[in-house]
Amino acid sequence: MADYHILLLGPPGAGKGTQAKRLCETYDLDHVSTGDALRANKDMETEYGTPRSFMEAGELVPDEVVNEVLEAALTDADGYVLDGYPRNLDQVEFLDDATELDYVFFLDVDRDVLVERLTGRRVDPETGDNYHVEFDMPDDEEIRERLVQRDDDEEDVVRDRLEVYEENTEPVIEHYRETGELVEIDGEGTPDDVFERLSDAVEGDD
Ligand code: AP5
Repeated sequence: MADYHILLLGPPGAGKGTQAKRLCETYDLDHVSTGDALRANKDMETEYGTPRSFMEAGELVPDEVVNEVLEAALTDADGYVLDGYPRNLDQVEFLDDATELDYVFFLDVDRDVLVERLTGRRVDPETGDNYHVEFDMPDDEEIRERLVQRDDDEEDVVRDRLEVYEENTEPVIEHYRETGELVEIDGEGTPDDVFERLSDAVEGDD
């Protein structure tokens, strides 16, 4: 199978993590998520403070810190799905120097749907799997009981994250639209519906 380099863009809650997991399983790729990598190193001391202090406020972690995290993750990956990066135009430049992309997908989802998805998200702290109180709860009672809400999924932080996205990351989407690389995918409907659209876009191109 080809070692695809797939970039998955979209606002918070668009389903990047959900779809990245499926793409990785189907095409045998590594999931490179700057959000997951930063969550795993939340209390790392840097000259700017800890990642936690930015993430819990819904702000971007400074580029210097995230770029190092990204570089380490890309070094270990052949084929990958990248999710959570780039989030501003300086990060686009850094990524251009670090790797070449085969696909740039943008998951398009309405703002009201994003808020509903994020505030209802629950995470299994043991596996990192995401669930949703309304759309996707696990059958296993033991898993249901240990689910937690991410600190940055409280409604006020969600709104701040959406503002940070509009200000910093929408120009990134526009950049890839201008270069002609952006493939827009309808991110609404069930996770199965969205995955079918993504895999059609990958396979239709082979
Ligand atoms: P990060 O972890 O990257 O968060 P995000 O981009 O805000 O995205 P999310 O993980 O919240 O959403 P998602 O699109 O993955 O949706 P999901 O699939 O979970 O970043 C967190 C923080 O880290 C940032 O705020 C920042 O501080 C820092 N950071 C990370 N990268 C950085 C960078 N490059 N530079 C600077 N700082 C950085 O789905 C959401 C919910 O919806 C789930 O409950 C899921 O079950 C449900 N769902 C998904 N799809 C569907 C569907 N089709 N129908 C119904 N429900 C669905």
